[in-house]
Amino acid sequence: MKDLTPNRADLDPIEIASIDEIRALQLDRLRWSLRHAYDNVPMYRQRFDEAGVHPDDLQSLGDLGRFPFTYKNDLRDNYPFGLFAVPRDQIIRLHASSGTTGKPTVVGYTQGDIDNWADLVARSLRASGLRRGDMIHNAYGYGLFTGGLGAHYGIERLGATVIPMSGGQTAKQVDLITDFKPDGIMVTPSYMLNILEQFHKLGLDPRACSLKVGVFGAEPWTDSMRAEVEQAFDMHAVDIYGLSEIMGPGVANECVETKDGPVIWEDHFYPEIIDPETGEVLPDGEMGELVFTTLTKEGLPMIRYRTRDLTRLLPGTARSMRRMEKITGRSDDMIILRGVNVFPSQIEEQVLATGGLAPYYQIELYRSGRMDAMRIHVEATPEAADELSKTAAARMLTRRIKDVVGISTEINIGDPGEVERSQGKARRVVDNRNL
Ligand code: DLL
Repeated sequence: MKDLTPNRADLDPIEIASIDEIRALQLDRLRWSLRHAYDNVPMYRQRFDEAGVHPDDLQSLGDLGRFPFTYKNDLRDNYPFGLFAVPRDQIIRLHASSGTTGKPTVVGYTQGDIDNWADLVARSLRASGLRRGDMIHNAYGYGLFTGGLGAHYGIERLGATVIPMSGGQTAKQVDLITDFKPDGIMVTPSYMLNILEQFHKLGLDPRACSLKVGVFGAEPWTDSMRAEVEQAFDMHAVDIYGLSEIMGPGVANECVETKDGPVIWEDHFYPEIIDPETGEVLPDGEMGELVFTTLTKEGLPMIRYRTRDLTRLLPGTARSMRRMEKITGRSDDMIILRGVNVFPSQIEEQVLATGGLAPYYQIELYRSGRMDAMRIHVEATPEAADELSKTAAARMLTRRIKDVVGISTEINIGDPGEVERSQGKARRVVDNRNL
């Protein structure tokens, strides 16, 4: 793979500024953001007053820990526009996420927010090894989801050519990649596997295609998956992180030269790691729930937003700003099986490490008598789809999961194509316990 390290001269100066400079900027901006939220959003004013804190109390970044948290439910309770901090006519874009239950969560952006977002996605793409003049295939879904349009504006801001393909129509995705010869692709990692399969179906060699970089995010994926995709396409696979409530894609992004976890764009977002049970702020390096405070958002400022994503903060490497460890789980995705905590990513690692298995999997939870049980649906590769190979692979996977994850599972190895394919964010867990 080609070395795609960007020129230092092309980076935004703040990316490589001193820590002191970054902290000073954050403190200034944090004061503004707390004040903006307090003055313009009734919920924040009420919460701060109840907690006995005022924006003027913030003397240092550490004082943020005295301010109350914001939760996803607060967006639902104030549906649709109750947390907006500017008059509705200054909001030039809305996005929304459907969620599994109840009302969607709605987010809104001013022109300034949209500009910052485009800048940060452009910065993320530069970190990924892409640059002005490149062509980028955008397979994140367009529409209410922030992925498609968020990526789109960033690609244009970089000065690259955008192919606004959106998700779905896998055969057409491959046609366009083959005919237009893009340098980069933006897509969920699970959908990239779907595209890979289509290459194989058509008898095309994915390693011979034009793609040099994949910018993958919107769902957890492991380093094993990175190795799988890099090997299959002979391209760099980097991690882009974000969430609608805070902005969308591009809150953090990995650097292609290090691939050691997404760099948080700390000039716009202030991260904390907390103990999810007690709410206590944990020191850098410790594992806990990621909490973000926006520093520049005008339309929808978020103060100490509980992401539910589990990770730790790591010191800067390729940039001065801190990194987050690659997210391998959300507290919502954690399965507790007979007392053992299990994340789908742990299963993913073992599936990818087992010979004869394709990288598609789904986890089913069901009841066996009064106990919860787990069945893992995977499929054999075309070369190993005979009964003997399947039995051997099932035995191997059962043992690996028992040894490494510590749980007993039932393994169902299907024929190629049997496991549900992702069209965007993959559905990793199917819960049939209440059937
Ligand atoms: O998924 C924004 C996005 C679009 C990010 C495209 C990257 C690329 P939401 O739909 O609000 O926004 O979902 C946010 O997705 O809290 C994480 O749990 C998960 N997530 C996003 N990026 C990653 C990642 C978009 N790189 C939620 N690794 C977040 C792991 C991720 N999980």
